[in-house]
Amino acid sequence: MSLNADTLAARLKRPHRFYPHAGSTNDLARAWLLDGAPAGSVIVADEQRSGRGRLGRGWATPPGVALAVSVILLPPRDALHQLTMLGALSIAETLDLLAADAPHAVSVGIKWPNDVLLAGKKVSGVLVESEWAWDTLRGAVVGMGLNVRVDFSGTDLADKAISIEPSLGRPVDRTDLLVALLARVDHWAARLGTPGLQRAWTDRLVTLGQRVTVSTAQGTYVGLAEGVGVGGALLLRDDHGTLHTLHAGDIALG
Ligand code: BTN
Repeated sequence: MSLNADTLAARLKRPHRFYPHAGSTNDLARAWLLDGAPAGSVIVADEQRSGRGRLGRGWATPPGVALAVSVILLPPRDALHQLTMLGALSIAETLDLLAADAPHAVSVGIKWPNDVLLAGKKVSGVLVESEWAWDTLRGAVVGMGLNVRVDFSGTDLADKAISIEPSLGRPVDRTDLLVALLARVDHWAARLGTPGLQRAWTDRLVTLGQRVTVSTAQGTYVGLAEGVGVGGALLLRDDHGTLHTLHAGDIALG
């Protein structure tokens, strides 16, 4: 079944707006947030023409093959850092449910900080953006992109990116996927600010205990990913024994 306004109206018991084509669902959600959208409101698009990823990158959402959704939340300021965890964890748990029915075992994990991996390749990413009025938090948007049946074969992403359907070996309805995902988002949104959320996210990090290279705005760090700090920062021990606390960056194993 296709993703469309009628199906979503029947299935989503929450304020939502559906766009067959959008620039970025995060931009639309931020505008709606400033216009007074209640917490839990969602923007969904079939296609994004200027989807955005982390670190200033683009995010492709061709029509008919992916899920692009942005959830508006009104978190307490001191829980803001947990929104990325909330997004990645919710996606990973949704994929767990789908993978349980797969004819073969498929691993689901999170690569620090927020890439969700299926069978070791990136299937989904999370982009959190917040709105401020001076130093007052107006709210935040958790943008999630999932590759459902995006064909990466023959592209330079083929060895890094994957889609849900070919990986699980069966069709996945995007409306069902969205409904399941929002249930997990609601579950964790009700637990924002708790240590349990960070614990559940940490338990799924495939990065920990591995030798990694992390590129940050301050430089490149190589060493052992030892753990995560209070706000979800990566604790990396370099070959000289120095422990670095890395808040953002691009991570590669090895
Ligand atoms: C990343 O891994 O770099 C994050 C990708 C986030 C993509 C999603 S798709 C829905 C929302 N709208 C956007 O423009 N970006 C996020």
